Amino acid sequence: FERGLLAGRHILINAGPTREAIDPVRYISNHSSGKMGFALAEAAAEAGARVTLVAGPVNLPTPARVQRVDVVSAQQMLDACLAALPADLFIASAAVADYRPDACAEQKLKKTPGSDDGMTLTLVRNPDILATLASHSERPGFCVGFAAETQDVLGYARDKLQRKNLDLIIANDVSQSGIGFNSDDNAVTLIDRDLTSTHLPQASKQKLARDLISRLATRLDRH
Ligand code: PMT
Repeated sequence: FERGLLAGRHILINAGPTREAIDPVRYISNHSSGKMGFALAEAAAEAGARVTLVAGPVNLPTPARVQRVDVVSAQQMLDACLAALPADLFIASAAVADYRPDACAEQKLKKTPGSDDGMTLTLVRNPDILATLASHSERPGFCVGFAAETQDVLGYARDKLQRKNLDLIIANDVSQSGIGFNSDDNAVTLIDRDLTSTHLPQASKQKLARDLISRLATRLDRH
């Protein structure tokens, strides 16, 4: 792993979950810990890049020489990613909530007294951060997505690669225990634009991140 590999490059990475407020004390979110994205930011900084890490709410220390921007919601994450452009490489490792409540109640929601009725939340679509950056006038030179899937992992990943106009997608089978959301290890399959795929077997997220960063550096140089 060569230290000057990404010298002079600006790498933008997002990581962690987003939180979509229901009322002042409740939200919709997911199990992303941010570990994968933080490991990528650390490896990119070690490789000599200038790194901007846009982080959802996570409990992780900021890697050395990484510029961190903390956000909560998907809309805030989109705004922070747009504000960080231009970038040579964008890696979207965040687990962005696809939907948010149509409005955040001003006061804590109360149960209806004397009633056992359920309640219905109306959700609206969040912006797609990756698709927005990949079709932007200041599109990062190389756009990389993750595809977290529980079935037909490679099929859905190929579909996202094409639909979101990406240069590469990292397919992540999140149905397997011990890898994916919130674990210390991961195992992924890279799918390039020409649909060639490369499997990287289970390893710590740190080790995998270094491997991914050196593979991405090679692709950036060829690009
Ligand atoms: O954070 P960890 O605990 O370490 O776990 C890592 C991880 C499993 C979260 C990570 O490896 C991973 O797979 N991240 C992507 C999670 C995800 O939401 O995937 P998706 O298949 O729903 O989305 C596809 C791509 O579009 C992703 O790059 C995602 O960041 C992006 N996206 C999705 C929805 C949206 N509204 N905006 C987006 O940018």
